[in-house]
Amino acid sequence: VVLPSPPPALYPSSYAPAPKDILPNLKFPKGFIFGVDTAAYQVEGATKEEGKGPSNWDWASRQPGVIADNSTADVVDLHYYLYKQDIARIAALGVNSHSFSISWARIFPFGTADSPVNQEGLDHYADVIQSHLKANIAPVVTLFHWDTPLALEAYYGGFTSPNITDDFIHYAKTVFAAYNGSVHTWYTFNEPRVFCSQVGSYPFNLTYAPGVNISTAPYQCSYNLLKAHAGAVKAFREMKITGEIAFKSDDYIGIPWRANNTDDAAAVERHAAFQIGVFADPVFTTGDWPQILKDTLSPEYLPRLTKEEQKDILGTADFFAIDSYRTYYVRAPDDGLAACVNNSAHPNWPTCNIETQYSYDPLNLYGGNVGWAVGPPADPLSDWLQATPQLLRASFKEYHKRWPAKKIYLSEFGFAEPFEGVRQPSLIYHITEDVDRTNYYMTYLAELLLSIHEDGIPVQGAFAWAMVDNAEWNSGQSARFGIQYVNYSTPTLERVYKRSAFALSEFFKAHLQN
Ligand code: NOJ
Repeated sequence: VVLPSPPPALYPSSYAPAPKDILPNLKFPKGFIFGVDTAAYQVEGATKEEGKGPSNWDWASRQPGVIADNSTADVVDLHYYLYKQDIARIAALGVNSHSFSISWARIFPFGTADSPVNQEGLDHYADVIQSHLKANIAPVVTLFHWDTPLALEAYYGGFTSPNITDDFIHYAKTVFAAYNGSVHTWYTFNEPRVFCSQVGSYPFNLTYAPGVNISTAPYQCSYNLLKAHAGAVKAFREMKITGEIAFKSDDYIGIPWRANNTDDAAAVERHAAFQIGVFADPVFTTGDWPQILKDTLSPEYLPRLTKEEQKDILGTADFFAIDSYRTYYVRAPDDGLAACVNNSAHPNWPTCNIETQYSYDPLNLYGGNVGWAVGPPADPLSDWLQATPQLLRASFKEYHKRWPAKKIYLSEFGFAEPFEGVRQPSLIYHITEDVDRTNYYMTYLAELLLSIHEDGIPVQGAFAWAMVDNAEWNSGQSARFGIQYVNYSTPTLERVYKRSAFALSEFFKAHLQN
């Protein structure tokens, strides 16, 4: 197959000039947020302290073969106890917001609405929130970043059961009431598609309630989760909680490889529906699942939403939040049938990724087929998914066109450098001299500035994943996303700024307006 050449690279693959040199006069809009991200399971540790109940991931990380380096997150960064230090370190960089999650199992160790609240858990996050405010760092709170109380898995199969909806709404109300007035920006769910189709407990065959049909689990999860989201937002509004609320979507909008090719265009539509639209269409545009999903999946897999449910779901986000790590070109298969294909883990959750065909990068320790290299893909057949700053503007235009909102947050973006996957303390110097990550952040932010100024996209915040190295789900500590290195072999779990942390700090100093 002879493919047209990709667009020319805007940046060399390493040592890009600092964007403040490229765009010295472009500023972020007033009030723009320079944030960093974490999530409870990934940084807190202290998994059995102060009344916390176990979560699905506390369980999963103990099962053989689940975590690449066999690490649990029982200690990891011990952010649960070191949060004041972590806040001081990001304040020193000029960060003005920290997006973190609350562990549901710390507030309700047994999960259910009729089980006791753990006051110690509520007090803990109250202090975490106040400590941020004292440092002039806006706390952004996610209610659910993938760590389901284990009890709920055991009782009824977690998100595969409709029971989860009321339990989640009760948890949400408890947290809203506790922190109303101290937190402005809230998220119900982090990346629901990723949770329901991959990272949730379901692929791990955790504990299924009797009678749960595993192949339908991702869809039951999506349905129950969407209703839990809508119910929590309804409660937020009824309780007159001050501030704004949304959910965080995962990324992967596709850009057609060939312009004016109807097969590629159809492939793009499928990507949009299955990757982002599955939750974003109901919430932002129609109240209902994307038509392509309904055409592909029978109601026994994907429960249909009633008119009443659609009414409750539509409009339940005050802004659009996208965890946009990278984008890729989408190309229909050679036979011209731009169809999503079955995915072996979930035969009935079609994945469209195959349409681009990709190869496994043995250097990439993040996971099978995700590349983090900076630069345009030389060839989408062998090099399909790269961190591609030059596609950022095109993808932001797509997000805004498809799921219009008054405001967009780039709620996560970041980069795991492959060689960091190997724990080699002697390489600390190289690890902290993270040239590729620095390059990634600088080029992405330069494109983001252009997206705001040239394309009029209302982006009002960018959050770097992650504040510190942490437990990267199945990769454990073998993939490091931090802008700060964590030396896990020191008793103090010493944090060391990487070069990217300084570069972000300087970039924002140069481009933020007071
Ligand atoms: C998105 C997820 O929200 C976060 O938990 C994860 O660590 C990063 N992507 C990197 O994979």
